Amino acid sequence: MKIVIKDNYQELSEKAALLIKEAILNNPKLVLGLATGSTPLGTYKRLIEMYQEGEISFAEVTIFNLDEYFGLAPDHPQSYNYFMKHNLLSKIDINYDNFYIPDGLTDDPDKSSLEYEEKIKKFNGIDLQILGIGSDGHIGFNEPGTSFSSRTHLANLASSTIKDNSRFFENEREVPSQAMTMGIATILEAKEILLLASGINKSEICAKLIDASKDIMLPASALKEHDNVTILLDKEAASQIKT
Ligand code: F6R
Repeated sequence: MKIVIKDNYQELSEKAALLIKEAILNNPKLVLGLATGSTPLGTYKRLIEMYQEGEISFAEVTIFNLDEYFGLAPDHPQSYNYFMKHNLLSKIDINYDNFYIPDGLTDDPDKSSLEYEEKIKKFNGIDLQILGIGSDGHIGFNEPGTSFSSRTHLANLASSTIKDNSRFFENEREVPSQAMTMGIATILEAKEILLLASGINKSEICAKLIDASKDIMLPASALKEHDNVTILLDKEAASQIKT
């Protein structure tokens, strides 16, 4: 794992956006895996600016999102579908037919999960996957204890995740208790992975991640078996890493 530490969130976002920009310039038909949450917001803001300044085009890019809350309709303001449209897709030249996200309203999660896997395969896999990390070490919604060989599935959210994510909802009870998520094996098949972590709240888990060997109770440690992973942190997130 390559570790890059930036002074602050703005610089982290700039670096992440630059890496994505380079990947698109190298391959305009890039298959990009994206995450939601607070961490990539600055990156998406920079990508929108780069698009507006004519530096990049998403016209031929395909996007696969990591996860979606189970039971939320795509137009629900807290759904990840809505998040992506509001924070990135509506402001760039992506072809909506090239945007994929797990179906949070499916009545057959197993079938829908298989279909999601097949779609990714049809595009020859994800070229560059962007990840955040939960304070409990989750990637996507793969909570501690999830098998490293898991594929896209319906997952139960850990109570700490429900608590963390309640900041976007009226209260904790409103947070869905399940989500459709790419599995850990699905994520590991991406050719390149960029994990972003920002802020003091992530410092403990980032230090654990750097120190840990592969441990099913720390889902992000699965990334240690991948040979092209960059962990991009700001100083606060890196503050507990022992040198
Ligand atoms: C979101 C996702 C999650 C988040 C993680 C960190 O699509 O898959 O794993 O990346 O929960 O969220 P933030 O960035 O809000 O701290």
